[in-house]
Amino acid sequence: MKRLTVPRIRQRKGGEPLVMLTAYTVRQAQLLDPHCDMLLVGDSLAQVIYGLPHTVGVTMEMMALHGAAVVRGSYHAAVIVDMPFGSYEGSPEQAFDNAARLLKETGAAAVKVEGGRVLAPTIEFLTQRGIPVMGHVGLTPQAVNILGGYGVRGKSEEEARAIVDDAVAVAQAGAFSIVIEGVLESIAIEITGKVACPTIGIGASAQCDGQVLVTDDMLGMFERVPKFVKRYQDMSGVISGAVKEYADQVRSRSFPTPDQIYAG
Ligand code: KIV
Ligand code: NA
Repeated sequence: MKRLTVPRIRQRKGGEPLVMLTAYTVRQAQLLDPHCDMLLVGDSLAQVIYGLPHTVGVTMEMMALHGAAVVRGSYHAAVIVDMPFGSYEGSPEQAFDNAARLLKETGAAAVKVEGGRVLAPTIEFLTQRGIPVMGHVGLTPQAVNILGGYGVRGKSEEEARAIVDDAVAVAQAGAFSIVIEGVLESIAIEITGKVACPTIGIGASAQCDGQVLVTDDMLGMFERVPKFVKRYQDMSGVISGAVKEYADQVRSRSFPTPDQIYAG
């Protein structure tokens, strides 16, 4: 099966909803790939893989290594890699150098950056030089030190206007798609109606052109998750149960059995 391309993703505006999940490792990518249009190597790997308090600590090396693993484990989905905090905000040139490195070292199709109007010149710079960019507006976790937390965005009319203006600027700058995270539903609907590229919602609206979740959240790997996460499985319970059974069997010498032994 041929890999989904950025132009084909763009063409899905208003059509069948786009399916995106995060992936960080090769086996995870292999399991998600047949069902997804896009795999996002999210900088949420900060919390999910590395136990960091937020995404500000993520490095280019982390994104490059996990991005390469996800590309190796996928054949059908387009792979998008998050640009880590500090790798693109300084200037369009800085962003280009780091985005080019990520595409070269991973084989991914595109990068994602957080931000609105301020980043429009950078998104245009990259897009015009061969690097497809996905935008990300609303709740932008890399700005945690400015926002002070991860609460829903757009509750005041002024903030709502700013988020819509951000999304429109990012789309006009050439973003092929935009993640809308953690906003009042009316804002997500307004943006989806206004921009020409597909919107991907997370804590946004079913009317977005697609949806994304952090895979480990939807699989029930964490105790505490935001309201917008739906748990499709209790993987914590599945894993705890299996590990407890193994531990009990080791302690009672009922593992290994003759089936797992090289008799001689
Ligand atoms: O890092 C991430 O997982 C993300 C998605 C939640 C959109 O940016
Ligand atoms: Na992210």
